Amino acid sequence: MKLHVAIAADHGGFELKQELIRRLGDSLDIVDKGADEFDATDDYPDFVEVVGRAVMEGEVDRGIIICGSGVGACVAANKMPGIRACVCHDTYSAHQGVEHDDLNVLCLGARVIGVEVATELAVAFLMARFSGDERHKRRLEKVQSFERDRLSRREEATDNLEPALESGPAETDDDE
Ligand code: RB5
Repeated sequence: MKLHVAIAADHGGFELKQELIRRLGDSLDIVDKGADEFDATDDYPDFVEVVGRAVMEGEVDRGIIICGSGVGACVAANKMPGIRACVCHDTYSAHQGVEHDDLNVLCLGARVIGVEVATELAVAFLMARFSGDERHKRRLEKVQSFERDRLSRREEATDNLEPALESGPAETDDDE
């Protein structure tokens, strides 16, 4: 069975995405999440969102997001629950990030690396598997606790808001 991979890029990574799909498309089950055409005004978070959701919801096994530097994509992707993304421009990090840290999204910077390196990075990332070693599971659990803390703090904040919301909006002067 082929690995199911979502890939997307903004204008900074559009050409590289097309080339990676050409090169890897026969070996993988690739879902192209856009951009569908070069648009110099598009925004990388829109492409991060669709790939992140596909990974979070189990539509695909892994994601690859390409922007100019890989940085914006990485910052945005790591805001999404369950996403562990990193810019990797060396093959050691691309596979070790999966083996030790259970990386599920690879971010690439098309203005930083060329297509040959990008292809090797994608292959290193996609061929790697989480080791499942006790120490890595323990560390991953600690990382995941950051996300749970953040979500539970948000729930607490919402609970605290409820009494205020129940009493309705405060009266305001027309002049305010
Ligand atoms: C777009 O010009 C560029 O800022 C974007 O592709 C990316 O590099 C952001 O990190």
